[in-house]
Amino acid sequence: MHIQLFDPVICEEAIRDVSRVLRSGWLGTGPKTKAFEEQFAAYIGMPYCVGVNSCTAALHLGLQLLNLPADTEVISTPITFVSTNHAILYNRCKPVFADIQPETGNLDIESVRRRITERTGAIMIMHFGGYPCDLDEFYELSGQTGIPIIEDCAHACGASYKGRHIGSHGNIHAFSFHAVKNLPMGDGGALTIRSEEYYQRLGRLRWLGINRDTFKRTSHNSYKWQYDVSEVGYKYQLNDIHAAIGLAQLAQLDANNARRAAIAARYERALSNVPGLKLLKYKNDRVSSRHLFCIQVQHRDDLISKLDENHISTGVHYLRNDHFSMYQKQELPCAEQFWQTVMSLPMHLRLTDEDVDYIADTVRKGW
Ligand SMILES: Cc1ncc(COP(=O)(O)O)c(C=O)c1O
Repeated sequence: MHIQLFDPVICEEAIRDVSRVLRSGWLGTGPKTKAFEEQFAAYIGMPYCVGVNSCTAALHLGLQLLNLPADTEVISTPITFVSTNHAILYNRCKPVFADIQPETGNLDIESVRRRITERTGAIMIMHFGGYPCDLDEFYELSGQTGIPIIEDCAHACGASYKGRHIGSHGNIHAFSFHAVKNLPMGDGGALTIRSEEYYQRLGRLRWLGINRDTFKRTSHNSYKWQYDVSEVGYKYQLNDIHAAIGLAQLAQLDANNARRAAIAARYERALSNVPGLKLLKYKNDRVSSRHLFCIQVQHRDDLISKLDENHISTGVHYLRNDHFSMYQKQELPCAEQFWQTVMSLPMHLRLTDEDVDYIADTVRKGW
């Protein structure tokens, strides 16, 4: 039996509650979605949350809120899943890749600063592996320059920075509830936002631009068919099937993240003095959600093969996005060094302490 890199666990309450939704006659966007949005906003510490069907959709709509003209530059990270940068292209803007911090994988503020021009319209930051970016510095830069920030929080559900949850420091934050994320629903996403105006607009944009959702129109037993469409929106809304799973999973999130932290601490103890192996360096003013557990090694591909022979799955997060054939390669020395050496060890709730010890022992024996 292989030890998987990710292995989602859905709690029994979610299985019970989703069955109730399936029997209820209302599967679309309705009361469960609303309850999830309210509870997620309260958990994160924000006035509003809008549920969507993926983080990719959340990033697309989050950037659309800024109404950037075509070809506006958006500074972003090359070390991310493609969704972060696709969202920029969906908005007809231009990704400008900045370099990263070699010890965390997060965007480096000085590199971002050097890429600001009069054409810069936004900065997209991503909390790599669930470890929060340097938010004080980024929001100070945003305040000085007037350039808005969008946070890709796909990895960082439940993480916090200086005592407040990720998703509550700025104005626009996008989350993923994809199957292997810290709060898995199967597929799903959300935006946490501060402004009522953004909240109202997102409610329309995720539902084809329609100004009254179907649940409201069908309540009181008479189907009220009138609605208006004021701009083109998308078929991006969260539904009650996924929301019911999410509500039950949200109740477990902190306990699940605590288990992830214990797994990470066990790995770190076992791997702290291995020649040729570097752990990422984390500051103690913030708490990672420990979505990924990454190490950096020379001859990374050899270690991947060795672990595979020993029935341990691993991953590489991420190939440099500017190396994909649709982009032009940039001069980004830290991103280059990072992606050539980084790899992810298994991180999920089915791992036992014995699994973690076995994985760490196998790594320690060399490659
Ligand atoms: C950093 C990052 N951003 C965005 C996404 C997109 O999330 P979703 O699958 O919910 O669209 C992912 C998913 O893997 C991700 O890792």
